[in-house]
Amino acid sequence: MTNRTKAFLLCNPHNPTGTVWTEQELEGICRFCKAHELLILSDEAHYDFVFHGQHTMLRKIVEKYDVSSVTMISPGKSFNVAGVQTAALLVDGDTMKKQIMSRMNAMAYPFEHAFAEGVTIGAYMESEEWFEEVYRYIKENKEMTVQYIRENIPHLRVPESEATYLLWVDCSAMKMTDEEIIEFWKNECGIIPSGGLEFGEAGSQYVRLNLACPKKILLRVLENMKKKDLTD
Ligand SMILES: Cc1ncc(COP(=O)(O)O)c(C=O)c1O
Repeated sequence: MTNRTKAFLLCNPHNPTGTVWTEQELEGICRFCKAHELLILSDEAHYDFVFHGQHTMLRKIVEKYDVSSVTMISPGKSFNVAGVQTAALLVDGDTMKKQIMSRMNAMAYPFEHAFAEGVTIGAYMESEEWFEEVYRYIKENKEMTVQYIRENIPHLRVPESEATYLLWVDCSAMKMTDEEIIEFWKNECGIIPSGGLEFGEAGSQYVRLNLACPKKILLRVLENMKKKDLTD
């Protein structure tokens, strides 16, 4: 943080690690941001996919701390409508809303298009059953993958992940460079992961897998990885 710092970017729940921040942790963030007069931008795009723990919307607690915030939600992940490019911002009041709208207008951001409203209403109001099925399927995929890796693939390590259809995988025991790790997943296992370095230096030696796919694809990838003996 420097004296030019204006905002705190929060990813809640966290992509790529899948951490669900507890209410106490969020309160700590609120106190910190109040003390340093920081605006909190809370990206909650993944909040529907919480499998363990309890998601707390930042919105629920900010008023108590009198801290400025914008919470961002979107049907994009939960209802697989990212292509529609629509999202919602929960803001502090009319003044902030006007400021944001005026910046968005200045950028000529295309936030008014024919499908946005219909898709958003359809997703949130009429797609519960569909979502519940997707949720169950992805939860099973995640449990299956974590268990399979822990039982069968000693050169991979998966930290606890409570949310998102993404899995953050520690590949350091593969003893390869970051580039080689990605190539290995791609060429030997049949999946293109996101390289950990995309998320910053601390992501070195990690990959992020997207588990929102048919189980048979996941199993094929895992079996391919299991066949490789990469331990010393
Ligand atoms: C944490 C997070 N925020 C925002 C986005 C983008 O969401 P949207 O497609 O709704 O703009 C993504 C995914 O790409 C994401 O993982």
